[in-house]
Amino acid sequence: MRKKIVAGNWKMNKTFEEAQALVSEVVNMVKDEVNNDAQVVLCPSFPYLATVSKTIDGNQNVLLGAQNCHQNESGAYTGEVSAAMLQSVGVKYVILGHSERRQYFYEDDQVLEAKVKAALKQGLQPIFCIGESLEQREQDLTFSILETQLKEGLFHVSNEEFERVVIAYEPIWAIGTGKTASSQQAQEVHAFIREQIARHYDAEAAQNTTILYGGSCNPGNAAELFACPDIDGGLIGGASLKSRDFVDIIKSF
Ligand code: PGA
Repeated sequence: MRKKIVAGNWKMNKTFEEAQALVSEVVNMVKDEVNNDAQVVLCPSFPYLATVSKTIDGNQNVLLGAQNCHQNESGAYTGEVSAAMLQSVGVKYVILGHSERRQYFYEDDQVLEAKVKAALKQGLQPIFCIGESLEQREQDLTFSILETQLKEGLFHVSNEEFERVVIAYEPIWAIGTGKTASSQQAQEVHAFIREQIARHYDAEAAQNTTILYGGSCNPGNAAELFACPDIDGGLIGGASLKSRDFVDIIKSF
């Protein structure tokens, strides 16, 4: 069901103590200051999930997310973490297909297809990331790249499973660069994504899907982005590492 979501992708940042401090600050500030119905999702590194889970336990507005999972349920995959493990420590969402995973860890559409299936099977909600590089945008390939990423990595799931999927549009050229897509650029792509969903599933699914924008989103540009009709919130990297900035983004609806 379509919701407003602001998810913080902490990436490989924060010591354990810093992570604990950040989550407590965010939980308290959300309680004291936020009066909209946005769902907040915190995505710390794997070692901190169980502790963060306890800190936010029972809080309806702040939920736990992970940054990745393995596609297999269990077994001899040294260094990996399964969707079942995530589920068992209270994780509700999992970011899949982030451009950093695609680029540095060679995750392709086939692996992502398997990861999406594994996450859904364990009752997790995938936050499925798609996005084009600057070169692809300049060559007018944005829509065809996004269409392929959706078709190959995501659109194999059933109508029923698709109801639990969140999509994040993250232009690679905007991630961590300080260059945000303009609200017009982002809205245009979000409308295109909804059209693709309507084509592969139906109009109702398209209307009900939560589509987030990610890429240098900050307290100064969030309100304009979130005001676009097809933008339902944000996946926040750098600005999610500071409680004040992150909570100000949550208040931008
Ligand atoms: P950024 O990262 O907000 O630091 O650009 C967003 C993301 O990679 O999810």
